[in-house]
Amino acid sequence: PPSKLQYRRVMLKLSGEALQGGMGFGVDPKVLTAVAREVGTAAKQGVEVAVVVGGGNYFRGASAWDGLERATADYVGMLATCMNALMLQSALEKQGVATRVQTAIEMKEIAEPYIRRRAIRHLEKGRVVIFGAGTGAPFFSTDTAAALRGAELDVDVFMKATKVDGVFDCDPAKNPDAKMLKRLQYSDVMIQNLRVMDETAITLCKENDIPVVVFNLYTPGNIMRALCGDLNVGTTIC
Ligand code: GTP
Repeated sequence: PPSKLQYRRVMLKLSGEALQGGMGFGVDPKVLTAVAREVGTAAKQGVEVAVVVGGGNYFRGASAWDGLERATADYVGMLATCMNALMLQSALEKQGVATRVQTAIEMKEIAEPYIRRRAIRHLEKGRVVIFGAGTGAPFFSTDTAAALRGAELDVDVFMKATKVDGVFDCDPAKNPDAKMLKRLQYSDVMIQNLRVMDETAITLCKENDIPVVVFNLYTPGNIMRALCGDLNVGTTIC
């Protein structure tokens, strides 16, 4: 029920890579449907949801081959995020959720251009707004795009849905004794170089007092629980 909602408005950052599920490339329809169902459930309960989706399942600007200019690689990555945005929109609408896609690079034939005040109106009307093309500028990550849009839209929290359960004290893939940290300060992340997200993104969140929750998008129910304010999900950085 809406009275129990912790958050009024949230920024959900979905990793593109996570959307590929077991496919190794592109989008796994099963993952996409599961994500859409949970986002839809939260939206139907009255949480205003803004989504930034990455593009790493198709292309990652920062790790393109030598000889491809970084700026060009980043533009290709931005286009990749738009493909994910359109597929997520379609999956959400299948769940009966009203959505709008806005892109930071104009491609009017397929989506609205990003207009801040219009995005806010859409959210107020209960539409899930999906932002494509990152910030529209190279050299920024989609995490940074999500932090920037989050600040512009005055969200209560930045939800980072990833492939891991949260932030660990060391790499859990290499160290079986790695411990998940439940609560951290922005400065812990910056000083200890915990690689939660890039420094530009974390700095934007810190400067705008937006708490960050890092959680696993593959755990069933997690997205919905996180969006609805369950503090037991993942790691909270504030
Ligand atoms: P309200 O005015 O609040 O009801 O919002 P709305 O988004 O329904 O209004 P509008 O009539 O502007 O949009 C109707 C539909 O057209 C929506 O699905 C929009 O996403 C879409 N739309 C609006 N502007 C553009 C655009 O520039 N490009 C594309 N491709 N679609 C657009």
